[in-house]
Amino acid sequence: MPPRLQSILPALYLLGVLTLLLCPSGLCAHSLSSFCITIQDCRMPPRIAHGSHHDISSFLSFTTVMHYECDEGYVLVGHPQITCRSSQWSSPAPQCKALCLKPKVENGNLSADKDLFIESENVTIQCDSGYGVVNSQNITCSENRTWYPEVPKCEWEVHNGCEQVVEGSKLMQCLPNPADVKMALEVYKLSLEIKRLKQE
Ligand SMILES: *[C@@H]1O[C@H](CO)[C@@H](O)[C@H](O)[C@H]1NC(C)=O
Ligand SMILES: *[C@@H]1O[C@H](CO)[C@@H](O)[C@H](O)[C@H]1NC(C)=O
Ligand SMILES: *[C@@H]1O[C@H](CO)[C@@H](O)[C@H](O)[C@H]1NC(C)=O
Ligand SMILES: *[C@@H]1O[C@H](CO)[C@@H](O)[C@H](O)[C@H]1NC(C)=O
Repeated sequence: MPPRLQSILPALYLLGVLTLLLCPSGLCAHSLSSFCITIQDCRMPPRIAHGSHHDISSFLSFTTVMHYECDEGYVLVGHPQITCRSSQWSSPAPQCKALCLKPKVENGNLSADKDLFIESENVTIQCDSGYGVVNSQNITCSENRTWYPEVPKCEWEVHNGCEQVVEGSKLMQCLPNPADVKMALEVYKLSLEIKRLKQE
């Protein structure tokens, strides 16, 4: 026998006794059917996305208690249990919200520094100085546990002023790594040498 039926049988039995005691003429047929309908209400616990529920009502209990769990990668928001009272659930079912891993962005940082983000949370990517964001700067943790739109990249930006590198002033802004800076400095020194030689 299914467990639900087991816990409902005593109720029906009690109802039968009450019906006999209170309604000898059988006038209670209508209230009996509405009682059955109200039992049905709580036998249909709300379904939730990315999670499941199971009945944890105690044996022979008149109240139905449902326990909700989330699929892996989802976190439960709200109360994990709902109880049927007066043919109504005590509260709305909880929700299972997606968790997104911290987006990996090289040469940039995030507006919030943490390892996990929850569905619908937004993150703004800030690229390091000299790097420009490719794709959307703002991303949202979506229901399918991925970032939407896709995680942007921070790419080295070639500024318009880069020809001036030999003049020294925009050196740091234009070159991505110390080796390049060193080389640029060499070029700069060389250009000064050439200038000096020309003047002589
Ligand atoms: C994230 O951004 C969207 C639109 O840009 C907005 O509707 C939503 O409320 C934001 N989420 C949070 C948690 O602030
Ligand atoms: C991200 O980097 C910027 C400058 O590069 C800095 O001002 C900001 O504090 C950093 N944010 C975080 C969350 O580390
Ligand atoms: C990204 O979000 C921040 C903070 O919500 C906002 O100030 C900025 O304008 C957004 N950037 C873009 C490109 O939508
Ligand atoms: C995840 O959801 C977004 C919308 O929120 C959708 O554009 C994207 O294609 C989905 N990704 C996958 C892998 O299903």
